[in-house]
Amino acid sequence: MINIGILGFGVVGSGVAEVIAMNREKLERHLEQPIQVKKILDVRDFEEGPFSGLLTKDSEEFFDDSDISVVVETIGGVGIAYEFTSRALKQGKSVVTSNKELVATHGVELLQLAKDNHCAYFFEAAVGGGIPIIRPLHRCLAANRITKIAGIVNGTTNYILTQMESSDMDFSAALSRAQLKGYAESNPSADIDGIDAQRKIAILSSIAMNGIYIDPDQIHTEGIKNISSEDMSYARALGAKIKLLAIYKSYKEGSCEIIVAPHLLDRSEPISVADGVFNAIAVDGNALGPSMFYGKGAGKLATASAVVADVLDAALHQSKNAHIMSWTHPQQTVVKPFEEMHVKALIRLKGDVDINKYRSLFPNMQIKPVVSAVRNETALVVGQEGTLTEKMLAEATSQIKEFIALIRVYN
Ligand code: HSE
Repeated sequence: MINIGILGFGVVGSGVAEVIAMNREKLERHLEQPIQVKKILDVRDFEEGPFSGLLTKDSEEFFDDSDISVVVETIGGVGIAYEFTSRALKQGKSVVTSNKELVATHGVELLQLAKDNHCAYFFEAAVGGGIPIIRPLHRCLAANRITKIAGIVNGTTNYILTQMESSDMDFSAALSRAQLKGYAESNPSADIDGIDAQRKIAILSSIAMNGIYIDPDQIHTEGIKNISSEDMSYARALGAKIKLLAIYKSYKEGSCEIIVAPHLLDRSEPISVADGVFNAIAVDGNALGPSMFYGKGAGKLATASAVVADVLDAALHQSKNAHIMSWTHPQQTVVKPFEEMHVKALIRLKGDVDINKYRSLFPNMQIKPVVSAVRNETALVVGQEGTLTEKMLAEATSQIKEFIALIRVYN
């Protein structure tokens, strides 16, 4: 019998109990033995339901239960979740989580703790919700050097941007709708400021870099708060959509560049199909070439689907350290400074200006005007492959008195 303990009976935690109950027969055939949720730890009071008998508020009772071999951590954050995860791993119990903040912050240490105690720390649900991406990247694509990852990895911001595009709403109206629908939290900062996407691309980059830990704080991150209806008009004019992209590119010499920022994404790019709360992640490997992972990046049962798959893996490989990752802190940073990154951007300028005036600011570069429905503005696309750095772009725009805003173009 595989006994599961769940830490945190919120949306994902309750979804895990539900998926195990819903698909028990299939799971038991896979495991070749019975599986059950033995205890659920949560300090809150809940209405009577099918799992009421399993709930406890007593952490000692939970951790003293020696029958529990796999712990699901769906508390979130890096406080008590960190403490409980460490405690379970030290007891030799495998831990499975959807908590990207904890993985992105303490992944090195928790993976080592799992290794030392002959158990597993799995986090398939931490990126892309229910979409398989962690295991494919770590295992199925292990023969490749991962050259590029470009992902729409935050459902809330993708919903907001889709609403702005399709219903012609401004940012605050679209955010209110996302909150009304229950997608955005009442404090939506982690989503709209790009922090959630930053943690997710840090995790994917650490795997792509073969276990060299990428600290989220090293990733240049911009959110979507400043995206306007004018930006949407330019996107339409260019046959593009505006998406919050999390991008990783690697270099042969062992360094990489990573950014989280809104981008104009051409509609011919496969990941541009992800609208609403859906996520899509493009992964390029030097042997496989391009691939794409698409599906529900959030939600109760979708996220639980990934958590329960990890539970099965943990249960099947108990005490064998199988499939466990190993991350290490690099001796020196491998993330290229933001200022040195190459960029292509649409810049918006006040009034009807003569583009020749700006040629000297963008030497030897294409400057293409964009014809759109926006009045009293001029928009130019500047920079092509390898010509314009973020530093040059910032210096140039600071010298243009008509400058309003810029939006990067994905290429
Ligand atoms: N807040 C996250 C999102 C939840 O909107 O994508 C899933 O990680």
